[in-house]
Amino acid sequence: MSNHKDYLKEYDMATEDEKYPLVSRWINSVERLPFFEQLRNERPVLVTPECTLVARFPDVRDMLSMPKIFTVDLYKPKMSVTGPDDGYLMAHDDDALHYREKSLMQGMLNRNDLPRIRKLVEESAKNIINEAAGRIEVVNAYCRMVPVTLVQDYFGLDGVAPEDLIEWSYWNQYDAFNNQPFDMLTEKQSQYITDKHNGISDKLGAYIASLVIRKLVIIKATSGLRAMLSYPKRILLSLLGMSIKTKPDDIVTRMLRTAFAKEVDFPLTRLGINAGGLLIGAIETTSQATAQVIEYFLKNPELLKKAKQAASFEDRADFDALVWEALRFVPIRPDIFRKASADYTIAKGTPHETVVRKGTIVRLLTQSAMFDEYAFENPNEFNPNRNWYHNFNFGFGSHQCLGKYIGMVMIPEMIRQILLQPELEDKGPINYKKGPFPEEYHLKWRVPEASGNH
Ligand code: HEM
Repeated sequence: MSNHKDYLKEYDMATEDEKYPLVSRWINSVERLPFFEQLRNERPVLVTPECTLVARFPDVRDMLSMPKIFTVDLYKPKMSVTGPDDGYLMAHDDDALHYREKSLMQGMLNRNDLPRIRKLVEESAKNIINEAAGRIEVVNAYCRMVPVTLVQDYFGLDGVAPEDLIEWSYWNQYDAFNNQPFDMLTEKQSQYITDKHNGISDKLGAYIASLVIRKLVIIKATSGLRAMLSYPKRILLSLLGMSIKTKPDDIVTRMLRTAFAKEVDFPLTRLGINAGGLLIGAIETTSQATAQVIEYFLKNPELLKKAKQAASFEDRADFDALVWEALRFVPIRPDIFRKASADYTIAKGTPHETVVRKGTIVRLLTQSAMFDEYAFENPNEFNPNRNWYHNFNFGFGSHQCLGKYIGMVMIPEMIRQILLQPELEDKGPINYKKGPFPEEYHLKWRVPEASGNH
């Protein structure tokens, strides 16, 4: 710690008004990791006037395991939750709706689909890269566009412009995760984001309603066609390896084809809300992770060499592990935030035991936890062979990411395809345009004479 500045001294000397802005500035800059290190060593729970920061692995994991005490209440107004039976599952804590819908959706996103998803991502990535011919603004043309293909072809949110899907994901994510009391926005900025979110919500709702109707019609029509063919004819066709495309398959169609008993309580309205959730979760998160890891590799030439080598291996595991370790250094955000529903004493029996008062916002510093020696040996070292169970990039506990396993193949495959390009370089760093997400990042590479893509 000694070779870094003394953040806590500066913090203690600051006036009440200055304290949280200082903390926020350190977290949003290159000072983040040294600041977190000092917190873990000297003040693992920092109570600021705005919110409480929690820096150590055991405390972060413990608090994420108690959803009724450290709640997602701050998501509620952003995800239309007014009672136990409405809004999106993510804004519900360990209740009937969350338990039911999360498990139904986990079943729909059958993990056996992952090889198909990887192939889809690979093809979409290759198409964009080939078209780009050696030069690309990668955030808009690639990092956001490849997940759009997944959203359209695998999730089944088709028949709509990619730009709309991107916008819907963007403003939902912006408002839910980056327009919170501790984000230090002016009232005008905050209102602008809320208005943008509200503006697109109606369009997204109308689109989902029409999508569900259209898909239902297709299902009816194709099942009618199937019924018209007699059973022996269908057997004969399948023995000949021929299939009439009677059963389209994407997640929305899959949900609509599944018959739920009334008591399961998964009507079309809930199905539609969950379809929208897939889209919202998929695009901006993937885009940010992909752009940041590409930049991280390009900034570290030794690592880039290793990654390029692993990118060409038949077995993808080594490459994927490099990506997941890189994300520990450049996660899509440094924390998961919660609101305390009751007074609760954390870190009991330790010197940093602290009472968190009801109503307090806690920022659980997941990135700091991923540098805690409690679970990460030599945490500042880049080591792709770490225990995956300690990784917080997809959250932890009952709110762990629904798209985790999809993200775990999509993101590395997107990065792999870019790294396979010879003489890859960037023209300056990612431009965030003062917002939370990557907005612009220019890459170039040499186009091989006879295109020999992997
Ligand atoms: C296919 C793409 C994705 C989908 C469909 C998706 C969907 C979701 C959903 C529905 C949740 C809420 C789960 C719950 O509350 O029970 C969630 C949580 C989360 N997701 Fe994803 N996600 C995707 C990709 C990603 C990516 C790429 C990342 C980061 C690299 C990510 C990070 C997270 C995190 C950290 C949480 C936990 C939030 C919390 O605990 O408050 N997601 N995701």
